[in-house]
Amino acid sequence: MAHKKKPLKEDFQLKERFKIESEVFDRQTLLILYKAIKKGILQTVDYPVSTGKEANVFRATTPSGANVAVKIYKIETAPFFRKSEYLLADPRFRNIRMTDRNIAGAFAHKEFKNLEICENAGVHAPRPLYVDSHVLVMSFLGEEGLPYQTMDRSGPLHGEKDLDSILQDIRAMYRAGLVHADVSEYNIMMGPQPILIDFGQGVLLGHPNSKKFLERDVEIVLKYFEKRGMARDFGKTMEWMLEKE
Ligand SMILES: Nc1ncnc2c1ncn2[C@@H]1O[C@H](COP(=O)(O)OP(=O)(O)O)[C@@H](O)[C@H]1O
Ligand SMILES: [Mg+2]
Repeated sequence: MAHKKKPLKEDFQLKERFKIESEVFDRQTLLILYKAIKKGILQTVDYPVSTGKEANVFRATTPSGANVAVKIYKIETAPFFRKSEYLLADPRFRNIRMTDRNIAGAFAHKEFKNLEICENAGVHAPRPLYVDSHVLVMSFLGEEGLPYQTMDRSGPLHGEKDLDSILQDIRAMYRAGLVHADVSEYNIMMGPQPILIDFGQGVLLGHPNSKKFLERDVEIVLKYFEKRGMARDFGKTMEWMLEKE
């Protein structure tokens, strides 16, 4: 017997899972979100946590009622990344065809893989849960359904302890072969301890600029804390960062 076409009613119910207007998503994105709902990864997409230049982040809910974060890379800004040094020299993405959707997808997959490295290295970062095309699902960083603040808004919450935690994480990442390459107070969320986010531009140590990116990450963190009365020597910190075990 031929398969019956799926009833329209089900599609309608699926649409109702979007508490926000589905007009905010383009068709390709909607299809990917529907797929994630059908697979039981997501139950509802609740509201935008952040709308950025390169990506939007939404709070969503799983069938078991847990919150997750859904980061959707923008397809229309992909041309901007076409020549991006972050992507080009990464051997993991040497063979992708450079369509806009593929570029947005490459960043989502890159972030997913970088988050996997962090998870294995014990770095404080979101847990990667699912990735499909330019849509990434990760653990939600927040409390009672609300996202933690980023450090640019909250400032350090535990003085020099926070600096130590961030530097430890950068070092653990480096030892696992990864450099974040975009560390700043905007990409650190303040939970019980600082948590690094936004790993789309993270590079492996084989990247020709990985050392430069690492130094820049450390410098930005040190300067931020120095302005708040917590000075550390850059040279010594780098020495410790690169130290062989
Ligand atoms: N896992 C997460 N849980 C909760 N909020 C998040 C999560 N990831 C990102 N956010 C929020 O979304 C904002 C943008 O995320 P980010 O990954 O930095 O993307 P971009 O800077 O490229 O727009 C963050 O500043 C933070 O407020
Ligand atoms: Mg960011």
